[in-house]
Amino acid sequence: MDYRTLGSTGIKVSELCLGTWRFGKETNGVVETDRERAHELLTAAWERGINFIDTANVYGDPNGTSEEFIGDWLQDYAREDFVLASKAYFPFDETNPNGRGLSRKHIRAQIEGTLERLGTDYLDVYYIHRWDDETPIRETLRTLTELVRDGKINYLGASSMAAWKLTKALWQSDVEGLERFEVTQPRFNPTFRDEVADYLDVCADQDLAVCPYSPLESGFLTGKYDRDGSTPDGSRGDLLAWDNHFSEQQWRVLEAVQSVAGELDATPAQVTLRWLLARNRFTCIPIIGARTVDQLDDNTRVSDVSLSDYHVEQIDRAYHGE
Ligand SMILES: NC(=O)c1ccc[n+]([C@@H]2O[C@H](COP(=O)([O-])OP(=O)(O)OC[C@H]3O[C@@H](n4cnc5c(N)ncnc54)[C@H](OP(=O)(O)O)[C@@H]3O)[C@@H](O)[C@H]2O)c1
Repeated sequence: MDYRTLGSTGIKVSELCLGTWRFGKETNGVVETDRERAHELLTAAWERGINFIDTANVYGDPNGTSEEFIGDWLQDYAREDFVLASKAYFPFDETNPNGRGLSRKHIRAQIEGTLERLGTDYLDVYYIHRWDDETPIRETLRTLTELVRDGKINYLGASSMAAWKLTKALWQSDVEGLERFEVTQPRFNPTFRDEVADYLDVCADQDLAVCPYSPLESGFLTGKYDRDGSTPDGSRGDLLAWDNHFSEQQWRVLEAVQSVAGELDATPAQVTLRWLLARNRFTCIPIIGARTVDQLDDNTRVSDVSLSDYHVEQIDRAYHGE
């Protein structure tokens, strides 16, 4: 496993981050990753050199289950060996009008719950999961800055939002002398690019680390789905009953990824992850959502794969329909 400095922060993270969105998540009556499987994945990830773990207060059913699974597991390990990231924004308590968003009240309540479930007294990265149009960003940034000064958060992160909102938040931090977002988490992969192009320009210009979520487009870029709509049993597409879920452009990109994988004797997942790691305008750390140890092994073998400029061009040309 290779390690990279996380943007303009001082910490080193494995070049893959382990995503835990599906830990404890119940979909159509099926728990996608139960406690035992979650612990197996965390152990396997750690043994393969992954030190960066991504979760959120609302991951799992009920909310907080993913953080609980990680916290249980972490008791047998040294907290200091890990870079832990969590998030707040989405409704945690549907019955409470203040049980969501990015107000001072909600953030202060949520960080306490997250720290307790993870069994730690600080987070390395705390993301705003989305932008809250109902809370001034000044209030959110002031609250997050207080939490950094209290020692509860090391670095601030921002997930999906419009590029102008990310820019506005960075401006607000600068003019008020507040902590600024250092780490970002957009959806980004070879099939999902134009939608985040402006956002990524901000990240490149401001030296923000980029941790793409759904780097394999929820499994599509492994080549496991067929154009006829068939989905392997137990796959995400099967559980969510995807039907004609992907665009022609996505199929074109997948075919290019598969062709490059064939030339390199690699898998489409490895080629996709290497394409992300090869971004050179910013530090890029994909957040992988492997559901089994075999998938994790496939993904971590990205370290054996390198892409030539020609290979990257084949994938880019397919995206642009050239
Ligand atoms: N900030 C946000 O709003 C946001 C949103 C989404 C996710 N995230 C974060 O990003 C993480 C990753 O997202 P994601 O789960 O969508 O990522 P992903 O890697 O694009 O998709 C994961 C799925 O791909 C399949 N897969 C992965 N590796 C495979 C392999 N080698 N061979 C075959 N199938 C493979 C598995 O599907 P099957 O289940 O079908 O086997 C797995 O469930 C999440 O866990 C979470 O931490 C953040």
